[in-house]
Amino acid sequence: MNNTFAKDVIEGLSAQHKHLSSKYFYDDNGSRIFQEIMNMPEYYLTDAEFEILSLQSKQIIEALEFSTPFNIVELGAGDGLKTFKLLEYLVNHNIDFNYVPIDISQEAIDILTKRLKDRLPSLKVKPKVGDYFEILKQNKKSDYPSLLLFLGSNIGNYVPKKAKELLQLFNDNMKVGDKLLIGFDIKKNPIVIHNAYYDKQGITKRFNLNLLLRINRELEADFKIDDFDFYCHYNPDTGEVKSYLVSLRQQTVEFKALQTTIDFDFNELIWTELSKKYALSEIESLAKQTGFSNSKHFLDCKHYFTDSLWEKLA
Ligand code: AVI
Repeated sequence: MNNTFAKDVIEGLSAQHKHLSSKYFYDDNGSRIFQEIMNMPEYYLTDAEFEILSLQSKQIIEALEFSTPFNIVELGAGDGLKTFKLLEYLVNHNIDFNYVPIDISQEAIDILTKRLKDRLPSLKVKPKVGDYFEILKQNKKSDYPSLLLFLGSNIGNYVPKKAKELLQLFNDNMKVGDKLLIGFDIKKNPIVIHNAYYDKQGITKRFNLNLLLRINRELEADFKIDDFDFYCHYNPDTGEVKSYLVSLRQQTVEFKALQTTIDFDFNELIWTELSKKYALSEIESLAKQTGFSNSKHFLDCKHYFTDSLWEKLA
């Protein structure tokens, strides 16, 4: 099987503890549902990070201590709404820099570039579509220092071992003195976190079930959406929100394109996502373990979220 999506789905659903990767949530429909999630009042992460970048751009830029023009490279730029505040500050203060948004979606990059051209005409945008690391490798050769942005708590969707590997890879593709501004959702009152993921309107449930619709469409499967429910659980000890789909009956799902079937038991779970929350001390130790020093945490007023600024060490 050479289609990675098909291979990952079948491997995950054939495992003893069934699982699917949350990276597959984001087809066109999934990306739209994620926008709805970001607009929910319970999903505090987006507002918290927006507040940080709106109110503390000056402090963030001063903390970079770059003395020459620089590049701002954003990994997974998406709609770039939060970053806009940072870019606006820089443009309004005539600071010389290039903005390099990277995304896997050409459509997202086209929309973002057009919006930035309209709203900040003097901004130097060098958009890139494709694999982060190929583009980072090129960027490493630049004569100018770089600030990498990895915002939105995307790191929380990686299991700790994979998170470390990813950060180590970022580090390998940076120059000494380059900075990384990285968004972490902070451990807090568990009820606040629970409500952000177990929303009463069922938008997060729809986000998870959409993955089954994607599998139906792309792998000619016959998941019956009403035969699955959504469950999620926050463990305040580990900081992990784990999300699942639950099979509401014993059933067999056929994957026509792959000429195979998979059985589900009554109440069997499919683990779909990890959204890890961090203590500030864990963030600092993660920085150390992956070749960075943690220069500063930029927190929102409720201390729900941090954009932490790390520096690549020699
Ligand atoms: C993209 N990522 C950081 C989100 C999160 O909070 O884990 C995705 C999400 N899943 C459910 N709600 C939002």
